[in-house]
Amino acid sequence: MTLLVTGGAGFIGSNFVLDWLNESDEQVINLDKLTYAGNLENLTSLRHNPRHIFRHGDIKDAILVCGLIKEYKPRAIINFAAESHVDRSIHDPEDFIQTNIVGTFQLLESVRSYWENLPSKANGECKTKGVNKTSFRFLHVSTDEVYGSLTKDDSAFTESNRYKPNSPYSASKAASDHLVRSYHHTYGLPVLTTNCSNNYGPYHFPEKLIPLMIVNALAGKPLPVYGDGQQIRDWLYVKDHCSAIRRVLEAGDVGEVYNIGGCNEKPNLEVIYAICGLLDELAARTDGINYHEQITYIADRPGHDRRYAIDASKIEQKLGWKPAETFESGIRKTVLWYLTNPEWVAHVQSGTYRERIQSPYIT
Ligand code: NAD
Ligand code: DAU
Repeated sequence: MTLLVTGGAGFIGSNFVLDWLNESDEQVINLDKLTYAGNLENLTSLRHNPRHIFRHGDIKDAILVCGLIKEYKPRAIINFAAESHVDRSIHDPEDFIQTNIVGTFQLLESVRSYWENLPSKANGECKTKGVNKTSFRFLHVSTDEVYGSLTKDDSAFTESNRYKPNSPYSASKAASDHLVRSYHHTYGLPVLTTNCSNNYGPYHFPEKLIPLMIVNALAGKPLPVYGDGQQIRDWLYVKDHCSAIRRVLEAGDVGEVYNIGGCNEKPNLEVIYAICGLLDELAARTDGINYHEQITYIADRPGHDRRYAIDASKIEQKLGWKPAETFESGIRKTVLWYLTNPEWVAHVQSGTYRERIQSPYIT
């Protein structure tokens, strides 16, 4: 049995591939474009694992994708591939449109040709017999940001919330979710969509809040807080996101959407203070100064969403999924991971790191 995973060299995708290969005896075909966010070092432990097959390429490349489908006849396809950083989408949205919208569309077209046993427009050779009409699934990994921003009095997002994306990133993810939905309703493609809250954990590229705060703190650099730092995110340890995706793939109802979250709403400043406190305990500064002294308030992100919160009762009640980590246990594991993997951090920050971050806020 084979799974085709896209974006499996990124943060969540690589955690998923590592966990999947650990917990099943299936083969994983990992298709990744290796953008600045894709990192084969995340997968070093799989170097000699014959069940992991890495292919460098773009989900937009129908000939490549159809070739992989034809060769491996996957029983499921999980789409993690995306441009994922909100700040970058504000500075330069083009790649977000190309990968998240056009790329998802092309991927869906390739999958449809498999599902319907039809030649694809891009490549007449794609026609592939062998799809299992009962068990095949296309699982699309998406975000809670498609639902927009909450006030402090609003209820958490449920699956029936209206889509109100506010950034080019969330708008591009919303478009991809709609395309996935339409391929189910129009062509009967057996899709599943998950909308998850903010992840954190190992292999997180240090442009996002949590890893950036850890690596900047250890390097004695400023910890940049956008605006007043009171924006709220709902944090989920990445391994819990992976277990939720596994559960949805295993038991989710075709055509359904599942919100995934850990009930861990925290203002950004509280998260930053938690990281600083752990670093004071585990890797204290030699000058005796607390890490939180490095906090620096800077201009707010344009269009900054104030609050996200996920109501995960559907996945809990229908599929029996629950996160294993609390925020306290997950953030401690995360800080420890960065402290014990200085080579990964050094490599990811070497060479073109500053250009790859493309953020005016990085010092
Ligand atoms: P990431 O940026 O760390 O990784 C994305 C991966 O996709 C990279 O390996 C990159 O090389 C690859 N990729 C990009 N464009 C591609 C293309 N055209 N073809 C093939 N591969 C391509 O992202 P992440 O944080 O791991 O997020 C993975 C998915 O989960 C995304 O769809 C994202 O929207 C979603 N998501 C992320 C979070 C989060 O907190 N990080 C939360 C909810 C949902
Ligand atoms: O909610 C899910 C989303 O979470 C995912 O879909 C995205 O792919 C993922 O990047 C994340 O988006 P956010 O914009 O919430 O994550 P980010 O880590 O960029 O920022 C988290 C919060 O911290 C946000 O309110 C902005 C703030 N922030 C971020 C950075 C990088 C700062 O205050 N300072 C910073 O330096």
